[in-house]
Amino acid sequence: MASIVTCIAPVNIAVIKYWGKRDEKLILPLNDSLSATLSTEQMHAKTTVMISPNFTKDRIWLNGKEESFENPRLVACLREIRKRATSKNGKNCELKVHICSENNFPTAAGLASSAAGYACLVYTLGKAFGVEGDLTSIARQGSGSACRSLMGGFVRWMKGTQNDGSDSIAEQVFHENHWADMRVLILVVSDSRKKVSSTSGMQLSVKTSDLLKHRVQNVVPQRTKEMIQALESKCFHTFAELTMRDSSSFHAVCLDTYPPAVYMNDVSHSIVDFVHRYNKLKGSNKVAYTFDAGPNACLFLLEEDVPEVVGLIKAVFPPHVEGKTFMRGLPVENAVIQQDMDLLLPSGPHEAGMIKYVIHTKVGSGPKTLDGKNCHLLNDEGLPK
Ligand code: DP6
Repeated sequence: MASIVTCIAPVNIAVIKYWGKRDEKLILPLNDSLSATLSTEQMHAKTTVMISPNFTKDRIWLNGKEESFENPRLVACLREIRKRATSKNGKNCELKVHICSENNFPTAAGLASSAAGYACLVYTLGKAFGVEGDLTSIARQGSGSACRSLMGGFVRWMKGTQNDGSDSIAEQVFHENHWADMRVLILVVSDSRKKVSSTSGMQLSVKTSDLLKHRVQNVVPQRTKEMIQALESKCFHTFAELTMRDSSSFHAVCLDTYPPAVYMNDVSHSIVDFVHRYNKLKGSNKVAYTFDAGPNACLFLLEEDVPEVVGLIKAVFPPHVEGKTFMRGLPVENAVIQQDMDLLLPSGPHEAGMIKYVIHTKVGSGPKTLDGKNCHLLNDEGLPK
C-alpha cells in the first residue's frame, strides 16, 4: 500500500556564522554556529514524500521541475534515512519514493532556501519511513545549515570532534517563546550578479584565508558563549553587537579569501551605515544586521521598534512603487517619524528601488506535519498535482 506525508520546515538565519568544513563529504564544520529559526507563517519549504510498491525508481521534483536523483547530497540523506528505518523496523525499507518540494518564497532571492529545503526533505522522509530520534546529523549532510532548521527558537550546531560526525549535531538552546518580542526584517536587495555558492566559497576560504583560522580558533568560541549569555538575559544591545560583529567577521574572511568572495554590495553597505547611524541616534543598539552569502540584509529588532524602523527604511530607501508589495509578512503600524533625518541621511534619500521588498517575520517553531488530502503536492499516482 502506498503512503504519503507532507510537511513544512522553516528558514534559519545564523547570528554566529558557519563558514568552513573539516570534512566535505560528511559536512562537518570548523566551528559551532548559532541561528534563529524564522516563523513558517511567512517563509517555509514544503515537501511531500510518497512511498509505493508501484514506483520503479526514486524521483524528485523541485519547484515544479523534475530534477536528477544523481545529486550526492540527496542520495546521502535518503540512504541514511533508509539505514535508520531498516535498523529500527527491521523491515525492508527499500521501496521507492517520489518527492515533491517547493518554497513559498523566491529561491532567487537567495534566502537560505537550501537550509529549509533539506530540513524539510529529511524531516518528511523521517516521518514517511517512521524514523525517530535525532535527524540533524542527516540533514547536515544535505546542507550544513539545514540541521539548524529542524528546531524552533535559537539553535546551536555543535562542530563536534568525532571523525564520523556522530557528535556534530544541532540542539535548541532557547525555545521560540523565550524572547517573544524579537522581530526580523528581511531586506531583499536588487542584485543581478551571479554569486559564488556557499559551498565553493567556503572551500576556497579554508584553502586560502589565514583570517579564517583566527576566526575559528580565537573568535567564535568566546563569541558563542557571550551570545548565549546575551540571549539568556535578553540583552538586546549585546545581542545586536555580537550579531553585527560576527556578520562582519564572516565577510572579512570572504574578502581575505583568494580570489576574494564578495557577497555584500553597495546597497548592503548602505544598510550597514543606516543601522549604525540609527543605533547611535538612539544611544543603544536597537537594530542588528546580518548578511549571508549574498547582498540581502536580515535585521533583528524588538517589536516596539518595528513601526519607526520600517518608516525610516521607506524614507531612506524609497520603494519603486509604494504599496502592498513592498512590505510583506506581519502587519506594521504606521509611525510618526520623530528622528532628525539629516543625521540619518547626510546626503539625502537613496535612489528608489534599491530595496525590492521587505519581509516582516519573527522567531518561530520547527517543522510540522500537515493534515488533510489537499495539502499534498503529489496526486494519487505520485505525480505533481
Ligand atoms: C553564510 O549550509 O549553504 O549561510 O554546507 O556547503 O551546503 P553547505 O553550505 P550552507 O552554508 C551556509 C553559510 C551561511 C552561514 C550560516 O548559515 O551559518
